[in-house]
Amino acid sequence: MCGIIGYIGHRQTQDVLLEGLSRLEYRGYDSAGLALHTGAEVMTQRAVGNLAMLRRSIGEEWSGGDMVATATAGATAGIAHTRWATHGGVTEENTHPHADCDGRIHIVLNGIIENHSALRAGLELEGCTFTSDTDAEPIAHLIERHLTAVDDLYEAVRRTTLELEGHYAIVVLDREHPQTLIAARKECPLVIGLGTGETFVASAAAAFRAFTDRTVVVGDGQLAVITPSGVSLSEASTALSMPVRVQRIGWVADDVEKGSYATFMRKEIDDQPAAFGATLAHHTGESGGFALGDAEPVLAAARRIVIVACGTSYHAGLLGRHLLHGWAHLPASVEIASEWRYSEPALERGDVVVAISQSGETRDTLAALRLAGESGVPTVAITNVEGSQICEHADAVLLTHAGPEIGVAATKTFTTQTALLAAIAARLAANRGMLNPRMRRNLAAQLRAIPDLMAETVIRSEPVAADLGERWSQAGFFFYIARNLGLPVALEGALKMKEISYVPSDAYAAGEMKHGPIALLSAATPTIAVAVGTPVVDKLASNVAEVKTRGAHVLAIASEDDPRMLEYADETIFVPALDWRLQPILAVVPLQLLALETAERRGLNVDQPRNLAKTVTVE
Ligand code: AGP
Repeated sequence: MCGIIGYIGHRQTQDVLLEGLSRLEYRGYDSAGLALHTGAEVMTQRAVGNLAMLRRSIGEEWSGGDMVATATAGATAGIAHTRWATHGGVTEENTHPHADCDGRIHIVLNGIIENHSALRAGLELEGCTFTSDTDAEPIAHLIERHLTAVDDLYEAVRRTTLELEGHYAIVVLDREHPQTLIAARKECPLVIGLGTGETFVASAAAAFRAFTDRTVVVGDGQLAVITPSGVSLSEASTALSMPVRVQRIGWVADDVEKGSYATFMRKEIDDQPAAFGATLAHHTGESGGFALGDAEPVLAAARRIVIVACGTSYHAGLLGRHLLHGWAHLPASVEIASEWRYSEPALERGDVVVAISQSGETRDTLAALRLAGESGVPTVAITNVEGSQICEHADAVLLTHAGPEIGVAATKTFTTQTALLAAIAARLAANRGMLNPRMRRNLAAQLRAIPDLMAETVIRSEPVAADLGERWSQAGFFFYIARNLGLPVALEGALKMKEISYVPSDAYAAGEMKHGPIALLSAATPTIAVAVGTPVVDKLASNVAEVKTRGAHVLAIASEDDPRMLEYADETIFVPALDWRLQPILAVVPLQLLALETAERRGLNVDQPRNLAKTVTVE
């Protein structure tokens, strides 16, 4: 995944682009570049490394070697890119923007051009010279070739898109048209920002939220002609004009700022109580009960729910399944999207497929959702990004309201997904007559208490996580055990530990431990026992006792009204008392903090882990 931005207007274009890139760095951070139209020429600067390296190279090259990027005066338009390499190594040559042979057409691409080799071969035969190994560069040369035939930028870009296979968002800057940018989109996000006498285009609205809250989503398969006075849209296949629908963004620019926090991940852990509360509030009806909008009739008709998701969203799905079983007595299964889509899934009448994806762009989850739709099964999407692709392919959409999540490690989107899944399970339980009015009220009250209890959990957990992060920072392996609803949280804790601390870790159903993994344990294995979310804490306690006989140091996450773990564990973090099925939502907080503290003690950048991008759009 990459981040792209374009700007045309009256501001210092270089500053706008660099500012925008800094908001998109979560999408890719192995190299970055920009191209500026000064009115007379196009100047390009590219650098391997993060944005600081691009600023530095601008300073060196354009500001007389003072090493600090100062704005290049006079630029009226520009495009910029932050890259996550997929085709071609991480080199300056492969960094976007890419240009045609003549240096007239400049492009940035997010996505993958699947037929790039064939396109490149054909263009080379026609005499084009390539300077990179990317799948993006052929696009600039194709536009160049079409321009010789039609001498019309819009038409040349349109014809180019008809030759592209794959999924992409592209922004094009033409030396001969300083007052126009052209963008195209197929299955990758692209959003326009409308200002006064200025227009923005980017992969995500976060890139320009500091300047405007008026947005237009470019539809799938559409082209956008962008000028300082606005945007026009058309269908790429037919060139027919399409309506422009202006929407206002709900969140503010501060939501994508770290403020006084050292990292986005730490900030986003603290954002969780408010995000959880906002997600519940958005799905509360006038009568005070949970309301699921368009998704309600779809879900209410389900005889079985099949949840498909990846990574952290999959873990949220696992928790949701338990709630659907426990409260609504509704059969549900949870599937890893990348497996399920290739597993010849047997869907039946009465099944409803629920796809969970914070970004709404994860390709395997999207493909699973499409597969369900093609099988004639109703679909519901749960996502954090309104207007993301998953919304286009589902029969109904339920939004989490976590605000933009910038850290690569998912935190607040996990907890908001659990909020929504709990609301669904509670609503379906009520519909199916599984809860009497008193139970219903009690459940809703417990759910609504979570934001405060979560804030308290952060305060309780922080000192212990900081202490253990220090003491365990050199551990070679972390082991997590849990039972029932604690297990998804243990899995999530282990994923966080791998992802940001680079320490091998595994999470197991505690009862499975003796069937193999216990062999891994020794005095050098920190073990985390999630002792909530299960009706059989006693059995988990026996498992902890077994772990202790191997000499391992144990941290237990337990309920404040249950002192049993004190007897077995070396350290215990007590989370506030709550319905036992909901307590795991609190228990994830100390695990997030432990992974973060461990990573920081190891000197790692928790917001940008190695080899990982925020959204996995590659198949
Ligand atoms: C975990 O911290 C991750 N960011 C990752 O596992 C993520 O949950 C997964 O890639 C799925 O992303 P999605 O929710 O945007 O589809």
